[in-house]
Amino acid sequence: MNIVLLGAPGAGKGTQAALLEEKYGLVHISTGDIFRANIKGGTPIGKVAKSYIDAGKLVPDEVTCDIVKDRLTRDDVKSGFMLDGFPRNLFQAEELDKFARIDVCVNISVDFSLIMDRICGRRVCSCGASYHISSLGGRTTCEKCGKPLYQRADDNPETVGARLETYKTQTAPLIDYYKAQGKLLTVECGNATPAEVFAMICGKLDGLNK
Ligand code: AP5
Ligand code: MG
Repeated sequence: MNIVLLGAPGAGKGTQAALLEEKYGLVHISTGDIFRANIKGGTPIGKVAKSYIDAGKLVPDEVTCDIVKDRLTRDDVKSGFMLDGFPRNLFQAEELDKFARIDVCVNISVDFSLIMDRICGRRVCSCGASYHISSLGGRTTCEKCGKPLYQRADDNPETVGARLETYKTQTAPLIDYYKAQGKLLTVECGNATPAEVFAMICGKLDGLNK
């Protein structure tokens, strides 16, 4: 099964992807993570991506589409993958349909009023783990590997505002795109915990196979 995970910044795409990876063995591909690794490594892609990410804008389509197209040529995706943060506009969605088969789009729908606190309170680890300060109890290191936690450079109120605007104008139209293809599964999160959201997603995905 090949899945697109759709959702606003802070909707919980990364959180759910980690759980789905464990349960279904799907390969998790996050364009945001790929860009951040390139920025950290000082690569040419990282140099291009940084100014867009810091401004809460989309990295140019040609750079982004090439990265995903190339990633999907690897053997590990043959038994299924999840795209987290791609596609992010109609152009990317149409390009994706040319080089991959998408079975379902899981749209994680969350109230915008929750997003600022979630993102500005997020702390991450270089191992990929992600936390919220409200559940850390003052802890500053990763529970999984012990390394120090840090805040993403784009997790500040100003950039989050711009990211939300980018989502509303460019990414939200993809909900209708996948609905028209009959592939949309929307999960209305309300105040549900990550585990509850995960149960809702699994219920919908498992329902597809019956
Ligand atoms: P990207 O890394 O994809 O960021 P994003 O879309 O803004 O999403 P986030 O990673 O911030 O949130 P998430 O939905 O993964 O939420 P999470 O699970 O972490 O992209 C970053 C930038 O890269 C973009 O702005 C753009 O510049 C560029 N980019 C990336 N892809 C691109 C593309 N295709 N084209 C062009 N440019 C691209 O959860 C968030 C927080 O909430 C955490 O603290 C978590 O613990 C908490 N949380 C999660 N679920 C719950 C819950 N149910 N209840 C309470 N708290 C929860
Ligand atoms: Mg994420």
